[in-house]
Amino acid sequence: MVKIIYHGHACIELYDGKYDILFDPFITGNPVTTARAQELKPDAILISHGHGDHLGDAVAIAKRTKAIVIAPFELADFCQKEGAPNIHPMHIGGSFNFDFGKVKLTQALHGSAFVTDEGTRYTGNPCGFIVHFGGKCFYFAGDTGLFGDMKVIGENNNIDIAFLPIGDNFTMGPDDAIKASVMLKPKTVIPIHYNTWPLIEQNPEDFKNKLKELNIDCTIIPFNGSVEI
Ligand code: NI
Ligand code: MN
Repeated sequence: MVKIIYHGHACIELYDGKYDILFDPFITGNPVTTARAQELKPDAILISHGHGDHLGDAVAIAKRTKAIVIAPFELADFCQKEGAPNIHPMHIGGSFNFDFGKVKLTQALHGSAFVTDEGTRYTGNPCGFIVHFGGKCFYFAGDTGLFGDMKVIGENNNIDIAFLPIGDNFTMGPDDAIKASVMLKPKTVIPIHYNTWPLIEQNPEDFKNKLKELNIDCTIIPFNGSVEI
């Protein structure tokens, strides 16, 4: 059994009773989360790209917990230079067997840089993740537009859960996320990256109803809520 906790935006935590893994830990400054970065205890932190709403508290959590940071090479290197004690750089198309499960990086159509008022630091290509964890297969798309090779990802993986952005503007909107769902063929779709700010406001119930018409299962996890699969 895997517990899926949704901290809002793109921050997902998975717990299988032994290992805790955290995706895109944007906690500080996240207007919809009630989590506290200093209370999270991940074994691994998977970061899809360098934007602040994904990198988030990753380095601070990694420093405190010694969690391994798994990210595209340039972003992992960035985290190490910022003080993350354990990094595991990867790149798109590559996979690795960790103690907690197997991770493969997938492409994402987006940008990746750490942008501040003082300047912008390049953090490589953005990515998504296929993660085998707790006996289930998860696809975390990251921030991405729709791309045709989602069909290949669906063919090559028996996906139990697909975390797909639906916010539009910066990523796929609901209509493209529905097309993605058809190509990926997951057992269940979980929408993410919406309603954090007005710019990415969406009605997830509408999305769920449209998927239902296509006989695709969708679970909406309320912000700060969890489900077990
Ligand atoms: Ni982004
Ligand atoms: Mn984002």
